[in-house]
Amino acid sequence: MSEPEQRSDPSRPRESSRLSEPSKPSEPAGSSVSVAGASRSGSESAAVQRQTGAEEPGGDQEQIEKPLIEDVSADVAPVVEEFIAEAAQANLEEEAAVAAETSLRADSSNGAAQKTTEEIAPFISFEHVSKSFGDTVVLRDVSFYVKPGETLCIFGRSGVGKSVSLQILMGFLKVDRGTVRVAGQEIGGLSEREMQDVRRKVTMVFQNGALFDSISVGENVAFPLRERGDMQEDQILQVVKGLLEMVGMAGMDSQLPAELSTGMKRSVAIARALAAQPSAVLYDEPTTMVDPLMGHLLGSLIQRLKMQLHLTSIVVTHDMRFAERLADRLVFLHDGGVRFFGTTEEMRASQDPVLREFFSKDELVVPL
Ligand SMILES: Nc1ncnc2c1ncn2[C@@H]1O[C@H](COP(=O)(O)OP(=O)(O)OP(=O)(O)O)[C@@H](O)[C@H]1O
Ligand SMILES: [Mg+2]
Repeated sequence: MSEPEQRSDPSRPRESSRLSEPSKPSEPAGSSVSVAGASRSGSESAAVQRQTGAEEPGGDQEQIEKPLIEDVSADVAPVVEEFIAEAAQANLEEEAAVAAETSLRADSSNGAAQKTTEEIAPFISFEHVSKSFGDTVVLRDVSFYVKPGETLCIFGRSGVGKSVSLQILMGFLKVDRGTVRVAGQEIGGLSEREMQDVRRKVTMVFQNGALFDSISVGENVAFPLRERGDMQEDQILQVVKGLLEMVGMAGMDSQLPAELSTGMKRSVAIARALAAQPSAVLYDEPTTMVDPLMGHLLGSLIQRLKMQLHLTSIVVTHDMRFAERLADRLVFLHDGGVRFFGTTEEMRASQDPVLREFFSKDELVVPL
């Protein structure tokens, strides 16, 4: 395995040396991170429930707070717990690094010392972004952001540019004007090689999963682990098994993607994304086109990942109830521009007829 990395340096890919060490019993780092995540999830979810009045059955709440590692079999749990604790720790360090960086910038400009959440620099942002395809203007002067460890939900009608926005963030599409920052870096001028490093930190879960069709589910999840070049085969197999169990796909490693349903493909895509130990995950409509139960499972999983792995997330969704549980901020794209960008509470209070029509037409509940 490679040398230990200084994880707080956002320009370096994430790697680890810890997995080459003999597996340790699972408490210190792992459980402290999980416990911290679970307690944060509890208070946040309770707060959302109080705000919305949308009481979840007790089972749901328990499900969301349940540590991810509890879904993993005992034989692989130590290695998997270390793997996810390492990812969570790296994300916390990255959050702290962004906060410190913000503080340093503020110190040199106006002498301020302590930064509040509102003042912490975004982890991902669009600043005055415009994008056209030929004569078709898709995005016009679009700005929004998400801070480290937070979740942004993107809403808007079909064809408004939600998926295009995610593809821009991944560097698959270039903007015509404006600035795009991902993991603190402006990506406009990056080479494909540099962009690949950014994609190790920010991964995307596509609507159809975008799995490699010719290799098995297990090999799909193993792919990012093998790419690192610093893990032994038995560790790779253990992490693959554990990640698949974590996303509800236990024992499916030898299946081919073609044999899976849409929801199952998305679950595997989430496991593959987690194998890269990302700082941020972009999800394109993760809960649509699947049955309500699968939608619910995927929604809970995304919520648990946010809270327990401290992932920064961007979620394209039409599901307002899901967004209310998960989102710190929401952006509503309309007619090429940003019709709304703000917190869930501000969204709920908005009297904008366009917003209200969208949610009523979609038969989604926006509490009044
Ligand atoms: N590679 C491309 N070349 C040309 N036009 C494109 C390309 N990708 C997207 N578009 C156009 O950009 C617009 C926005 O597409 P996008 O896929 O972002 O919509 P969306 O908001 O994700 O919609 P949906 O909710 O249906 O997924 C559409 O008019 C689409 O035809
Ligand atoms: Mg789309």
